[in-house]
Amino acid sequence: MKRIGVFTSGGDSPGMNACIRAVVRTAIYNGIEVMGIQRGYQGMIENDIDFLTSRSVSNIIQRGGTILKSARSKEFMTPEGRSKAFRNLKEKGVDGIVCIGGNGTFTGAKLFFEEHGIPSIGAPGTIDNDLYGTDFTIGFDTAINTAVEAIDKIRDTADSHGRVFFIEVMGRHTGYIALAAGIAGGAELILIPEKQGQWKDVAAMFAGETKSPKAFSIVIVAEGDEEGGAIKIVERLTKEIPDFDPRVSILGHIQRGGSPTAYDRVLASRLGNAAVEALLAGETNKMAGLVNNQVVLTSFDEAINNSKPLNPGLLKLVDIFNC
Ligand code: F6P
Repeated sequence: MKRIGVFTSGGDSPGMNACIRAVVRTAIYNGIEVMGIQRGYQGMIENDIDFLTSRSVSNIIQRGGTILKSARSKEFMTPEGRSKAFRNLKEKGVDGIVCIGGNGTFTGAKLFFEEHGIPSIGAPGTIDNDLYGTDFTIGFDTAINTAVEAIDKIRDTADSHGRVFFIEVMGRHTGYIALAAGIAGGAELILIPEKQGQWKDVAAMFAGETKSPKAFSIVIVAEGDEEGGAIKIVERLTKEIPDFDPRVSILGHIQRGGSPTAYDRVLASRLGNAAVEALLAGETNKMAGLVNNQVVLTSFDEAINNSKPLNPGLLKLVDIFNC
C-alpha cells in the first residue's frame, strides 16, 4: 500500500479533525501518501480528492466540524455512483481508505469493498455513541458536555420561575446522549427510544399538577423517544392538564459543534492511528474502536448489525435520585 484516502461522512462530530490529523500523520510516519476526500462519498464520486501533507493538518486538533466536510451521499447508494467513485480512486492511485463516520458510512465502505475490492478501515465518528464495537464514539463526550452546560443554564431559569422544562437532546435511535446528559444534569426523568411505555412515568409525575411536584423539574427527552420528541410530549400533557405551563428547549445542532474535549481528542488520535496501522497490516472491513480502554478491531458487519445496549443501571439511578 503506497497511498491511502481519508474522508468524513454522515453527521459530523467534534474530534473528526483530530482523527484526520492522526490518520495523515500516522501514514506519513510510515512512508505512505495520503489524499483527503472532500464531502465523504460525494467527493469521491465528484473526484474532489487531493493530497494532504503533515502541514495540511496543523492546528486542527482543537477545531470542531471537519476540514474535509461531510455529506450523506444518495448517489453512492447506487451501483453507478460507486463505480464512478472507484474509477476516481483508481485514477488517483488510492489503494485503501480510512472512513470516519457511523453506521451508514461503514455500510457504504463494506459494499464498496465487496464490489470493487478497495480495502477500508473505519473510525467511529458520531455524537450518538450508538456503534457496537466501541465503548465511546468520537464526539460523544463533547456532545454530552455541551448538553450539560446548556442544561445547567436552563436549571437556573427553571429554578427562578419554579417551572418544568422538557429539554430535547439528539439521538434519533438511541438514548446515550439523553442518559449521560440527564444524569450529569440532574434530570428528574429521562425519556429514550430504547424504553417503551414511558408516558405513564410522565403522567405519574405531573398528573393533576399544574406545576412540578418539586420546586422545579428538568425532563430530558431524546429526539427519537416513542412520543416523537419534547414538543409532542408537552402538547399531549397540556391537553390533559390545561393549566400546566411547562417550557420546551430543543438543544439541536449545538451538540454537534464546538471544540472537542480532551477525551475526544485522545480517543480520535488513538483510533485514527489504529485505523491506518490496521490498513497497513492488511486488514479491511473493520472498525477501530475502544473497548475497556484497549483498541480493538470489529468487523463492519458486527458494528452495523449489532445494537449496543444501554446500561440499564443508569436508568435505575434516575429513579433512585428522584426520591
Ligand atoms: O447521527 C448524528 C445526529 O446528530 C443525530 O443525533 C441526529 O438525529 C441527526 O444526526 C441529525 O441529522 P442532520 O444533521 O442531518 O439533521
